[in-house]
Amino acid sequence: MKDSSVAINIPFHRAALGEEEVQSVSEVIRSGWLTMGAKTVEFERQFASYIGAKYAIAVSSCTAGLHLALEAIGIAEGDEVLVPTTTFTATAEVVTYFGARPVLVDVDQKTLNLDVADAERKVTARTRAIIPVHFGGQPCDLDAIQALADLRHLHVVEDAAHALPSEYHGKRIGTISELTVFSFYATKTLCTGEGGMVTTDNEAYAQRIQMMRLHGISRDAWKRYSAEGSWYYEVIEAGYKYNFTDLQAALGMAQLAKCGAMQETRRSIAERYTRAFSSNPSFEVPEMLPDRTTAWHLYVLRLRLEHLRVNRDAFVRELAQAGVSVSVHFIPLHLHSFYQRAYGYKKGDLLVAEAQYHRCLSLPIYPGMTEEEVQYVISTVIELAARFSK
Ligand SMILES: Cc1ncc(COP(=O)(O)O)c(C=O)c1O
Repeated sequence: MKDSSVAINIPFHRAALGEEEVQSVSEVIRSGWLTMGAKTVEFERQFASYIGAKYAIAVSSCTAGLHLALEAIGIAEGDEVLVPTTTFTATAEVVTYFGARPVLVDVDQKTLNLDVADAERKVTARTRAIIPVHFGGQPCDLDAIQALADLRHLHVVEDAAHALPSEYHGKRIGTISELTVFSFYATKTLCTGEGGMVTTDNEAYAQRIQMMRLHGISRDAWKRYSAEGSWYYEVIEAGYKYNFTDLQAALGMAQLAKCGAMQETRRSIAERYTRAFSSNPSFEVPEMLPDRTTAWHLYVLRLRLEHLRVNRDAFVRELAQAGVSVSVHFIPLHLHSFYQRAYGYKKGDLLVAEAQYHRCLSLPIYPGMTEEEVQYVISTVIELAARFSK
């Protein structure tokens, strides 16, 4: 285990930022134009081309993007929207913005993605949309989700906060459903500090989101201070202040250029973890389905608690003491006081998600990890399992 003379500290995440990012951001600073402008437009163009979508609209966060996507499809008070319980609160929170109801759905035990059969059981006359979340980066069963959506006349808005780049049946996430939303939050696979992107092939949605992200004023509102723009603008709707900035775009373009290489590094770390843990009786490693690829945003290791004398929380504490910071994705939404108070959810409502939550932890997985760090995580996890095995 840890040599006490050396303070080992492997953070859960470190953004992969290098000289390219520094140069790219410096250029924007020197230009004198910091907020949304030509760099944002260029980043949107590059992102749309990378994904293979017709339109990409940069926004201030994935949460903002999800909000705008639901606004574009016309979610209104009293509607219901299906959301997996195993997700970050943002996915369901945006539904509440409209006075609509997030209806929580259990997850598939293997992938921790939304269980389509449970979603189907929860469709009512008020259900308008479904928000599949590609947990950890592995795509949901989008064919089955689209089939349900077609049958029950639902919109599909993908929460792809973890899924850049991921593929389903040979198609990149971001090209499949009506609307897809990515996150560029600090820990994500492409990071701009904060930020997000909506992709769609639907021109009307794209125009609506472009307008609503910047106060509901005419589409090129950001040009109103530039020589090619005009001082005149018209407020068409009460919109939001959800725009991106050129500083973020500069980071985004530098990151996009190495997106594939970064994914490859995460994939090789995941492979090493799986090789090290798969034959150990204390662990269940993530299973990747053959018809899809994952961004490997998360590496979720599940403990076989029946083989261990400690629970997940104690295991996480021991790892932290040994200098390995891990996280837990996610506390199911129905266990949070807000969703219980507002919608009457309670412990025991969504059993698969709950059972898996108590067993899972997310290991560090990011391009800047050194060989030694990966090896240290592996040996620490294995030694702890041996120490606490029954
Ligand atoms: C599944 C999921 N959806 C949405 C979000 C929200 O992303 P953002 O912080 O960009 O708003 C997150 C962020 O962690 C997430 O994990």
